[in-house]
Amino acid sequence: MHRRHFLQATAVGTVSTLAALQTASAQMMRGMTSAGMGGMMGQSPTTGPNWPTGLPLRRLGVLENTSLSAGEFEGTLVASRYLASLVPGRTTELWGYNNASPGPVIELREGQRVTIGFANRLGLDSTIHWHGLPVPADQDGSPMEPVAPGADRLYTFDVPIGSAGTYWYHPHAHQTTTLQVGHGLAAPLIVRSVDDPLGILPEVNLMITSLALDQNGQVATGSTAMAGMGMMMTTGAGELLVNGQKTPLHTVAPGATQRWRIINATADRYLRLALDGHRFTVVGTDGGLLTEPLSGLTEWLLAPAQRVEIVVMIAAGQSARYMLRDLGYTGGIGGVAGGQLLSVETDGAVPQAPIELPAVLRLVADLGPATTRQLVVLSATGMGMMGTFLINGRVFDMNRVDLETVVGRVELWDLVNTTMMDHPIHIHGTQFQVVGRTVRGVVVPAAYPAWFDTVNVPAGETITIKTRQMLPGKRMIHCHILPHEDAGMMAVLDVTLA
Ligand code: C2O
Ligand code: CU
Ligand code: CU
Repeated sequence: MHRRHFLQATAVGTVSTLAALQTASAQMMRGMTSAGMGGMMGQSPTTGPNWPTGLPLRRLGVLENTSLSAGEFEGTLVASRYLASLVPGRTTELWGYNNASPGPVIELREGQRVTIGFANRLGLDSTIHWHGLPVPADQDGSPMEPVAPGADRLYTFDVPIGSAGTYWYHPHAHQTTTLQVGHGLAAPLIVRSVDDPLGILPEVNLMITSLALDQNGQVATGSTAMAGMGMMMTTGAGELLVNGQKTPLHTVAPGATQRWRIINATADRYLRLALDGHRFTVVGTDGGLLTEPLSGLTEWLLAPAQRVEIVVMIAAGQSARYMLRDLGYTGGIGGVAGGQLLSVETDGAVPQAPIELPAVLRLVADLGPATTRQLVVLSATGMGMMGTFLINGRVFDMNRVDLETVVGRVELWDLVNTTMMDHPIHIHGTQFQVVGRTVRGVVVPAAYPAWFDTVNVPAGETITIKTRQMLPGKRMIHCHILPHEDAGMMAVLDVTLA
């Protein structure tokens, strides 16, 4: 590591750690009574301050690679509290990486050796989890590898060949993930290949987060105690932000063809994405490009933690405006309204000619015949607000093994949702393939091959996936509605060598 950079980055402002922790529970209760309950009743949580809208879409900063060797990436991330101006007349304490929320984009290449120094200046245990990237278990930033307040650690891993795609990184500390992500800790991570078939297209990163501010402009988010009330979460509380801004303005040339990498980094929001007046083409999911583009789509459901890469051909008219929207999604619990995400405006330039996409992007090869089948049952326990969600009948205990597999073994997993709401289930350490969906006994095979690390399991349905782990160690499986995860809707998969 380049020690000088590390220290410089560490020295920048940290706000009153203990005091902030002590007010967290008060904030939590406020969040629950205003935003939480309102959201639960299907009302919009309008108690917060007014956000400015229509500002030019911010391009997120990129994490500097301090290595001089092309085959390596070296960087430094400092997690700390800092003050941001988000709404008029108020200063908001956010938690960010390198004083930014979303944090800096990590741009990697397949095959690179990555070394990232992490300085935890948050005042509580944290980790950095490289969501979706198959990295060794001890570099995965799971709750089993906490970094103490004030401590530093190095994360080291190789970027696998074939992993080009859109990922993200976020904290994954035991029972405080909602609190940490909810205060702003999350950022994109992009892996590029040398032969990207869409490499000529201009790219836009759209990192979607949710942020709930109280009357005083301070973050009101879930915490451990609130997470215990897993039943009532997915309230739709908080504003949906794109690159940290409320409904920013994205100006494009008429007729432009663009590749948008969209990340659902919200704690608990399903996004049903649609662009006014346009159909779009999905070219990639969590683990990168599809075999063939899926064109002519009018909407796409992006569950919490999922990513989608779309190609948009903007209409040829000059000075026109189209809204990228979340159409809203009930997820079995009812009443989550949508919202306006991004205002897309064409300028007065001469319309651009459309760019044709290749018919084949990249082969998503079937993992092959499965030799084992496992059941992962999602269930609910308790009553109403005091209830919680379970995996295979148990609450998370990191000292217990819940599921076992062997390196290289292809397995079918039936993710059975016996509850009355959807759960986006995420598996660490690998990308998997969805085989099909079972609705009231009827099996619907997946329509196209794709790589996912998170799949939505709708209320009352079963999703069957084909999965394989290539690295040994203990891996997390959990619901990516973060309050559910914190409340214990997580299990340990022990991967052993054959
Ligand atoms: Cu995005 Cu286990 O996490
Ligand atoms: Cu993950
Ligand atoms: Cu859940």
